[in-house]
Amino acid sequence: MSDATTKSASATSIENKADPIRGHARVVSNEEEGPGRRLRLAVPDWPGSIPGQFVMIGAGAEAGVPRRDPLLPRPMAIYRELGSSGVRASAEGEIELLYRVVGRGTQLLSEAREGESIKVVGPLGRGFPLDRPAVASVDESGSKAILVGGGTGIASLYELARALISRGRSVVVILGGRSAGDLMGQREFEALDVQLICTTEDGSDGVHGLVTTPLADGLTSGERGATVYAVGPTPMMKACAALAATNSVDCYVSLENPMACGFGVCLGCAAPRAEGGFFLVCRAGPVFLAREIDWEGLP
Ligand SMILES: Cc1cc2nc3c(=O)[nH]c(=O)nc-3n(C[C@H](O)[C@H](O)[C@H](O)COP(=O)(O)OP(=O)(O)OC[C@H]3O[C@@H](n4cnc5c(N)ncnc54)[C@H](O)[C@@H]3O)c2cc1C
Ligand code: FES
Repeated sequence: MSDATTKSASATSIENKADPIRGHARVVSNEEEGPGRRLRLAVPDWPGSIPGQFVMIGAGAEAGVPRRDPLLPRPMAIYRELGSSGVRASAEGEIELLYRVVGRGTQLLSEAREGESIKVVGPLGRGFPLDRPAVASVDESGSKAILVGGGTGIASLYELARALISRGRSVVVILGGRSAGDLMGQREFEALDVQLICTTEDGSDGVHGLVTTPLADGLTSGERGATVYAVGPTPMMKACAALAATNSVDCYVSLENPMACGFGVCLGCAAPRAEGGFFLVCRAGPVFLAREIDWEGLP
């Protein structure tokens, strides 16, 4: 497994700080959360993760007879690490995932009950740059970080917000959904020391419209150096990347290409590079500088 975490295809990503574990997590709770669900897992020997990393999780709880349909695990962002702030050593760590039921794997996941066991591999991938951004042209301390989340992309941003706050960054969080009920995790972001802006397409909560409206306002407000971090549907990330480029600020995105293995073996998660060729999202990402991606070539 360590091979997946030591080779870099992306100049902008940071090294993982811990080797992933492969094991069985215990379901602590699995409850409805707006349009999706919140799954809390106790993971033996959990090594801690970096904001933006993910786990490959079994499609549902372990059955008495090994399940072959679906056979493959599903990638999920690590939404929260409970009782920790960053990398730590502990016998059992608790993590939370936020997910929506879209197909058979997430349907089976939604049926997992407290005390049942689910296969987990992780943390995987390269997270957001925190301590040594490779391309920042300004001293980032105190400068504005604008985090933009749409749909379940919100799940990649909570630990990032906490990490940036602890590094002295001024953090703006923009969460978007179709309507008020789509805004997962809102109460936890409200409790953070961030400026929280919610947008809904039907105007049922916060700003009426898309996340790009407050993002454009934030980028043109004249404050010194900002960085944008955008996670959500591809058209949303593409629009955020374009706004960031227009305003000459860095934009990091986290791609959610479908994955089969999660560590660079199946080649199923390839994303086109702006300079030609492909990235394996699971290994070089999922976090990338937006300008590294050929957005027109993404599925
Ligand atoms: C790094 C990463 C992090 C992710 N984090 C989260 C998360 O925090 N919460 C969450 O709800 N989901 C997340 N996803 C997406 C999640 O993995 C898929 O929704 C899940 O695998 C679908 O499995 P399924 O068996 O339910 O659906 P399937 O039966 O496999 O597919 C059902 C439908 O969803 C589509 N689909 C499947 N996977 C994706 C995908 N990755 N992107 C877009 N469409 C897809 C299929 O084309 C199909 O139309 C993440 C994906 C990646 C790569
Ligand atoms: S998911 Fe298998 S190579 Fe990326």
